[in-house]
Amino acid sequence: MIKNNFNRYTVTAALPYTNGPVHIGHLAGVYIPADIYVRYLRSKGKEVIFICGSDEHGVPITLKAKKEGVTPQEVVDKYHRIIGDSFRDFGISFNIYHRTSSKTHHQTAAGFFTALYEKGIFTEEVTEQYFDEKANQFLADRYITGTCPNCGNENAYGDQCEKCGTSLSPTELINPKSTLSGDKPVLRPTKNWFLPLDKMQPEIEKYIDSHKEWRPTVYGQCKSWLNVGLQPRAMTRDLDWGVHVPLEDAEGKVLYVWFDAPIGYISATKDLFDPELNQQQKKDFYLNEDLKPQGTWKDYWQSEDSKLVHFIGKDNIVFHCIIFPAVLMAHGSFKVADNVPANEFLNLEGDKISTSRNWAVWLPEYLKDFPDKQDVLRYVLTATAPETKDNDFTWKDFQARNNNELVAILGNFINRVMVLSHKYFDGKVEMGSPLTQTDIEALAAMSLFPEKVGSSIEQYRFREALAEFMNLARLGNKYLADEEPWQIIKSDEERVKTILNVGLQISANLAILMQPFLPFTAKKLFAMLNMELMDWNRAGISDLLGNGHQLNKAILLFDKIEDLEIEVQVKKLMDIKLNNEQENILISEAKPDINFDQFAAMDVRVGTILSAEKVAKTKKLLKLTIDTGLDKRIVVSGIAEYFDPQLIVGKQVSIIINLEPREIKGIMSQGMILMAENPDGKLSFVSPLDKVSNGSVVR
Ligand code: 2FM
Ligand code: ZN
Repeated sequence: MIKNNFNRYTVTAALPYTNGPVHIGHLAGVYIPADIYVRYLRSKGKEVIFICGSDEHGVPITLKAKKEGVTPQEVVDKYHRIIGDSFRDFGISFNIYHRTSSKTHHQTAAGFFTALYEKGIFTEEVTEQYFDEKANQFLADRYITGTCPNCGNENAYGDQCEKCGTSLSPTELINPKSTLSGDKPVLRPTKNWFLPLDKMQPEIEKYIDSHKEWRPTVYGQCKSWLNVGLQPRAMTRDLDWGVHVPLEDAEGKVLYVWFDAPIGYISATKDLFDPELNQQQKKDFYLNEDLKPQGTWKDYWQSEDSKLVHFIGKDNIVFHCIIFPAVLMAHGSFKVADNVPANEFLNLEGDKISTSRNWAVWLPEYLKDFPDKQDVLRYVLTATAPETKDNDFTWKDFQARNNNELVAILGNFINRVMVLSHKYFDGKVEMGSPLTQTDIEALAAMSLFPEKVGSSIEQYRFREALAEFMNLARLGNKYLADEEPWQIIKSDEERVKTILNVGLQISANLAILMQPFLPFTAKKLFAMLNMELMDWNRAGISDLLGNGHQLNKAILLFDKIEDLEIEVQVKKLMDIKLNNEQENILISEAKPDINFDQFAAMDVRVGTILSAEKVAKTKKLLKLTIDTGLDKRIVVSGIAEYFDPQLIVGKQVSIIINLEPREIKGIMSQGMILMAENPDGKLSFVSPLDKVSNGSVVR
């Protein structure tokens, strides 16, 4: 049975890793849907807390610090602020945006570990883990790369292959390589603490099976994990950045980042309700003091009448639906998630968003270019949200949705009603002749919208909810177009009063219903209508604006986005693509080290090309006769596409003379000419700058 009557809501949004700014993919996948849900619940008068924070541990952060030559703390301090500011600027209305590097979090996460440890939940296991002898460090998770055993991707990480999505452990990688030194790591024994998920499988299975109402993608992924069979998972790592394992024999070990991060939701809630929080902490945690939730942190985490909802991206499903619930169940005092509406991924202009390739629209940059268009992005990302499948963001679509929907439908309706009200009645709400059948029908249709939009939101169908909301604006437009107040005014002013009254009631309803989706615009519209912010329960009725009510000045809610503005954005992305392509061809990976003896074993000499001719029936091969100083020998070389045989006779080149002879197209080739290969494939001889004797040694 799905429980439906809750007294309060705990809504969490995935804690972003604090090693870079956030982009539109994050907004679309997690933070906008979560914010719509929360704003709606608040507007319905529900008790709700909205929790997020920075995920400040984990290998990506230490790697970033290393790359930039700063400490991990400096990295997280910098990005905590950048990310927190972006969320605030886009109106993501967290009660608190906390940090996992905070004292409360370290205590809470360590407390969880101790509680499970004391209950004898963990198994202690000594396993062989990769160790980098040069860096003198164990190589957890992303400290190691190698070939994915599943798909052959050569750049898979120790914890996951990003190409095929398989979750891995470092020892599964083929040709493992340390990301610290590039060396092949060695195996060394080390002790870690494991969560016996295998033993917990029946309990977890029962939990998942009781949630068949979850999105099919989420439920399906959980079931496939369960079908394969859960495995014990290490909850500690041999690293020094993170929450220290609170045991005596755990020097140099921290909690696995996926053990500590979700507990961050609880730490954040503790600080949200902590009356002792000082001003500095309030600021650091972006505490929203206007929202005053009732109760204590425990009410939100330990009481079955609270509904717990985790908003996440699909790559986080297993952690939120299986591992975190397992930790909470093992602890015993906590409730587990009631729903986990995970989204699929958003692509950008047909390509996967990628931080390392800089293929993203970063929020701080968007705001620089479109400083007052937060709601436009919120709108577009909701309208194209990847709820059931991956989806694509394109700048053309962004422009089209702004111009054809926000401007032409929603903005146009409000603007016409406002402008006409000012023009004919000095901005006063009037009631003229009695309502006609058409008016009654329009108002009756309007009254159904709060329920329709709300029900879609409650079912986490945010695209559908937004489309429904826009249908109310369409209804308004159609009503105006049918009633033509601009014509009627010539003959029947009393009728026009009534038409505009109906139009204004629809506008006021739009203002209420747009709050979850377009909070900035809603504020403007309420101000324009000279209304107090109103909650959802007031929507649906047709006398929100009383007779004689004075409206404020009409302003445009949205404006057209010109082609030029879009071209600038598209060009930015094209430049990034070009840059990536150039970098890709320039950087060919370094080969593994060789020792001096291996180098000295190669006998490279300078020789002169005595003759050159094309090998019959081939496109690429030239047969060269070379004077090596020691002998005259034949070498077959794949350079015919780049050199005219006539023009290379007499050239001095470098040749490896002790390479095993090889038969190529029936000719015995005795050695190999050294060539430099340009990234575009063009070849050039490696020749001495000054003439030297044939047989001179190259070393
Ligand atoms: O995938 C991520 O970006 C993780 N930092 C999400 C963590 S969510 C939660 F568990 F904290
Ligand atoms: Zn793979």
